[in-house]
Amino acid sequence: MQPQNPERRRLQLFPSVHGGRSALTCMYRCGDACSHPVPNTSDNEYLGDVIAKAVSRRGLFKGGVAAGLVVGATGAVAAPAAAADAGGDASSAHWWGRAPRGLDFDAVAPNREDAVVTPEGYEQQVVIAWGDPVLAGAPEFDPENQTPESQAGQFGYNNDYVALLPHPSDRHKKVLVANHEYTTESSMLPDYDEAAPTEDQIRIGLAAHGLSVVTVKEDRRTGALTPVVGDGLNRRITAETPFVISGPAAGSDLLKTSADPEGETALGTLNNCAGGTTPWGTVLSGEENFNQYFANFASVTDPERKAALARYGFSGGASARKWEQYDTRFDLVQEPNEPNRFGWIVELDPYDPDWAPRKRTALGRFKHEGAGPRLARDGRVVVYMGDDERFDYMYKFISKHKMKTGNSRSAREHNRKLLDEGTLYVAKFTGDSPVEQIDGSGALPRDGAFDGSGEWIKLASGDRSYVDGFSAEEVYVHTRQAADRVGATKMDRPEDVEPSPKTGKVYVALTNNTNRGTGSNAKADEANPRNANKHGQVLELTERRDDPTASTFGWNLLLVCGDPAAADTYFGGFPKDQVSPISCPDNVAFDPHGNLWISTDGNALGSNDGLFAVALEGRYRGLTKQFLTVPIGAETCGPVVQDKHILVAAQHPGELSGASYENPLSQWPDGPGSLPRPAIVNVTREGFDSIGC
Ligand code: FEO
Ligand code: CA
Ligand code: CA
Repeated sequence: MQPQNPERRRLQLFPSVHGGRSALTCMYRCGDACSHPVPNTSDNEYLGDVIAKAVSRRGLFKGGVAAGLVVGATGAVAAPAAAADAGGDASSAHWWGRAPRGLDFDAVAPNREDAVVTPEGYEQQVVIAWGDPVLAGAPEFDPENQTPESQAGQFGYNNDYVALLPHPSDRHKKVLVANHEYTTESSMLPDYDEAAPTEDQIRIGLAAHGLSVVTVKEDRRTGALTPVVGDGLNRRITAETPFVISGPAAGSDLLKTSADPEGETALGTLNNCAGGTTPWGTVLSGEENFNQYFANFASVTDPERKAALARYGFSGGASARKWEQYDTRFDLVQEPNEPNRFGWIVELDPYDPDWAPRKRTALGRFKHEGAGPRLARDGRVVVYMGDDERFDYMYKFISKHKMKTGNSRSAREHNRKLLDEGTLYVAKFTGDSPVEQIDGSGALPRDGAFDGSGEWIKLASGDRSYVDGFSAEEVYVHTRQAADRVGATKMDRPEDVEPSPKTGKVYVALTNNTNRGTGSNAKADEANPRNANKHGQVLELTERRDDPTASTFGWNLLLVCGDPAAADTYFGGFPKDQVSPISCPDNVAFDPHGNLWISTDGNALGSNDGLFAVALEGRYRGLTKQFLTVPIGAETCGPVVQDKHILVAAQHPGELSGASYENPLSQWPDGPGSLPRPAIVNVTREGFDSIGC
């Protein structure tokens, strides 16, 4: 048995439900997804042929969590002798010398601070927080007197995806786009009765969802970003804003409702998680845990419909927020097709406030985490996507048409239709090691790597379905069931999937899956090599000849996350006593030097969530350093990683069990006596120099 480290005990004082998540987060963010049965009960024998599995010494972290334990090695990763002075500090003198460009900063130790903690020599600033005015005339934040109208003009709740884009006409300004995944009414609103919310409280919740577009002014000396309230580009999209349903499923009978008999216009967007920015300057955002907003699944009687809803995690009677009491579209009995109008990738043009945002049906309907677009050599656009649910799948879309360059009106019109026509694929992974060597413990197989090959399986293209028994529109609307049918690989919650602009390799954050290998659930395989997987893994995918339109790929696990001292973790072969502990990878981004940056959600090692930089190439490959941590109870979202700016969205600060409006458990960012507020944080280097260099 490992000796218990006193610091480790301290870090585990706070109650959690699943991994590092509190009961409140589970309820409001995911609709308690982890407490419900796994929605994928298909017998889809994803890797019959496949798959099935480090070591070393332990890190000492500055002021940190680990205490220099040495554990037995069960795998084959040789850890080069580490500098004796490492002190767990992945920053100073090491056998490998100076840190590579982008990673030259003092790693932040795991902690439970009610603050954003950054390396020495870095400055931080809250750019905008929930309730700050965005539109002209919107009032300042006043939680005692919030109204639906004020919220609709203010920054929404629980910011997740963030983009920081060039301003079209002023080089000292930028355009910030953020989405607002979910609301936690009991922490937002005074006198909130969960069983009987008032109509105004419900309407505040609807208005606090969606997206915000905010022009910000950049201080040339410090890099500080200040919102320009009422700027012409500023915009709030809420759960009631009209969206055009576009692409091959638009107008389908499956999307028609009593309010929209044409099946072409949906109101609002819900549970927008991560996203992506297209090469033509629009922003994509994924509708994730949309099922939780709909009531009365228990009263649905048609077995086929019930099965389709269950595959997306619908359950129970009343919804948590009781929106069905205000608007019947959230009642599954009264509006059977309304849930089919959520679960899409939405596209917003931040440069054109008059352009109605779109729901892109060609990209399939599932619990979209985000969307990672890039251009193929021939100019077609490729979008990588994850379906964030235990045992769900990874997808790719390839457009039929090529992007037009330039910013002419006709190029813009053309490019804004690219995501309506193309082919949707789902991923199947095959390991190259014998199944018996993948034992679910995380021990590496004899070839020293979790790796193999894979294939993109076609689902649908325009009006053509490639799935037996499914029409094309059924593939788009019931994408999960269609992917079950073709034998896609059941993954450990695929979240962000993003291509590196430098190398073309694609990186997939697989957050965790504590159900892996339990009961009748799928067992470990080479791409998901640990049963009861608490800490997740990061997968690196290489498409043949760097061609993102290829139908095959190679893959390997870059990181098997967790405590570096534990035998079941792997850091790209880098010595594990020189890396920061990382748990529950969620979103990924790249710096200008080609390093991968990873934000975490639900750190199951007991620390606050953080943002990490990982070297990908050469002798540094696998070197992982924590750049910042977010306040207690929060999740690190965004992130934006640029040469001189790092922006993270600190989502749900203080969302710990027992927290409420009357009993706030964080005082970030406003300090003593205040409510916690989700907010966007801008981190810059002193002197506004390049980060990590
Ligand atoms: Fe909203 Fe998959 O995290
Ligand atoms: Ca292998
Ligand atoms: Ca996420």
